[in-house]
Amino acid sequence: MRDIVNLRGGGSAFVLDLSGPTPVIVHWGADLGESIPDGVPASPVAHSALDRPPVQELVPQASSGWRGRPALEGHRARGRAFSPALVTTGSRDLGVEGVEITMTDAAAGLVLSLEIQLSPEGMLRLRSTLRNDGDDDFTLQSLSTALPTGLGASEILDLTGRWCREQHPQRQSLRQGTWLREYRHGRTGHDSSLFTAVGTTGFSNRSGSVWATHFGFSGNRVTSVEKTPTGPALIGNAELLGAGEIVLTAGESYETPLTYASYSARGLDGVTDTFHRWLRSRSTHPATARPVVLNTWEAVYFDHKLDSLVELADRAELIGVERFVLDDGWFRHRRTDRAGLGDWYVDEDVWPGGLASLIDAVRARGMQFGLWVEPEMVNEDSDVIRAHPDWISGAGFGRTPVGWRHQQVLDLVNPAAFAYILERLDALLSNNAISYLKWDQNRDLTEMGHTGAPSAHEQTLAAYRLIDELRQAHPEVEIESCSSGGARVDLGILERTERVWASDCNDSLERQTIQRWTEAILPPELVGTHVGPTTSHTTSRTHSLSFRAINAIFGHFGIEWDVRTLGDSELLELSEAVALYKKHRALIHSGVAVHGDLVDPAYLLGGSVAQDGSEALYSFVCVATSFDEIPGRVGFPGLDPDVRYDVTVIFPTATSPYNQRSNVGWIPDGITASGRFLAEVGLPMPILNPEQGVLIHLVSSLEASGL
Ligand code: GLA
Repeated sequence: MRDIVNLRGGGSAFVLDLSGPTPVIVHWGADLGESIPDGVPASPVAHSALDRPPVQELVPQASSGWRGRPALEGHRARGRAFSPALVTTGSRDLGVEGVEITMTDAAAGLVLSLEIQLSPEGMLRLRSTLRNDGDDDFTLQSLSTALPTGLGASEILDLTGRWCREQHPQRQSLRQGTWLREYRHGRTGHDSSLFTAVGTTGFSNRSGSVWATHFGFSGNRVTSVEKTPTGPALIGNAELLGAGEIVLTAGESYETPLTYASYSARGLDGVTDTFHRWLRSRSTHPATARPVVLNTWEAVYFDHKLDSLVELADRAELIGVERFVLDDGWFRHRRTDRAGLGDWYVDEDVWPGGLASLIDAVRARGMQFGLWVEPEMVNEDSDVIRAHPDWISGAGFGRTPVGWRHQQVLDLVNPAAFAYILERLDALLSNNAISYLKWDQNRDLTEMGHTGAPSAHEQTLAAYRLIDELRQAHPEVEIESCSSGGARVDLGILERTERVWASDCNDSLERQTIQRWTEAILPPELVGTHVGPTTSHTTSRTHSLSFRAINAIFGHFGIEWDVRTLGDSELLELSEAVALYKKHRALIHSGVAVHGDLVDPAYLLGGSVAQDGSEALYSFVCVATSFDEIPGRVGFPGLDPDVRYDVTVIFPTATSPYNQRSNVGWIPDGITASGRFLAEVGLPMPILNPEQGVLIHLVSSLEASGL
């Protein structure tokens, strides 16, 4: 057994001392090189305190004197074994990247194994498994990871939201006590934060030290930042278990979801870079160019008519769409959102010839066909629930949970319900040329129960299993995770899907924030972004097509608009945006995501820089009126300082978005300057109206001249 484990990757390190009775975290932060001293010198023992110096245990437990949130909580009958005293009993190398540590409490009959890996990109992943080695049941309350933040940590940043306003940042000072976020939605949740970050004072997009975690799970969860008087702030992540939800019988185990963590010495963009690189390194990461989508929802809603949908497909082909997705409304009884969920048969009245005529028309126009489903839900007004009222999940006593969008949750823990839904989805995919599913999930799982006992845990795993089994049978089908917009965006669901729908809000002003913060963890190729109608259906704001397109280009581009109604100039501008996306998607979907630290909140600068620094695309947008007359100079982050770039505004081209009497010196002809100049001196920016933007393209002069 190694005494010191020094995991290193992507400029960061996670160092453990295994020489004592329990594993101690020596360091999580910057890479320290190969040689590590034997741990850190002991802390003092304070008056009226524990009789030994406090240390940062990998598994904080009361048996070692820890008085904060314990990593493991549970008990046997009548509270026995309530305070485990796990000690290290083994460790095993998991290649260069990781270690597995076993801890045992023989008296309590518990064995905990912890897998810890630090990838070459700097992604730290932790998973624990608890085994009940006793003779009787062990009721598990909570099993969490607790990661310590480092020197200077003083501020907490996480995200929150609601329907149509997901992933908005909130920041606060780190104080004594616990910043606790509990998500009891049964799904990830609209208010769910994609990360919990703790950093040094004023940490920003490009500066400061940041310790950030993400919990890769789509069910109930708890995240915390806890500062006690005895040590650094700890970031905690755990599944939130219901009463008696996990009872381990003799020999049974519980495995936690993965906690992902990243340390950055260069602000949030460093955390983002680690997550993006790691996600892109997965063998399951989408490898093909992300096709331009047309989604029918905000175009026709439930009004499905073959003729109008074929007309829509005609227009889509003209514009350059590559994937046509038929949204909600195609199955039996689904004329409104009050009925039909669960009856996954093509509606014979609306589609007398089945979906084949539309699918054929779509494919004949060179597009893939995608279909909307919501497999985990049912309407009470459906054939399936009329036949099986007991398939609705609930707390028991014959009580049905309060409705949500007139729907209830199908109890997937019930094997018959699971088998029914799997058969239906399998038949749909087997009998139709469908290459894409938009997999929706439109309600919180309140009072989630199976036969009267809590089942959010099992339901989440069953939903995962359903997707996994379907994927196994139809590996060529891509799946999007949608959940009333962005209520199921996490790395658990992304282990089995190719895209998430970030929000039902297609208002591109709102989307600037939603997408910026979704992108903090997820690379843009995984995030669905659509050009919606001129006047947003969810906010009634009206935006220019160019502003909507600029927003959609920095993601997996789509259109969700009745494009049959477009005039010639709009058609032209939309086609131009589609062509622009196609031209630059390889860069955006492989580049380094960068975000400027602009002082003026009226303006935002974000972009993607090619991994070799040879090219970059930035969006500069105005989101509000400014105190300042002119935006002043803006620096371009992330470029290679020694490369000379040709810089031009490439979009919009049709109409000038500027609100000024004379233009800045480098528009429209462009300018050539070094990456160093562009970062340190910057370029004067044109005055934009609020809710306008421009796309700025940079290419290395050598490449531009073909040298
Ligand atoms: C949810 C989704 C939307 C759309 C509707 C259809 O709200 O988030 O994109 O698919 O359901 O009912």
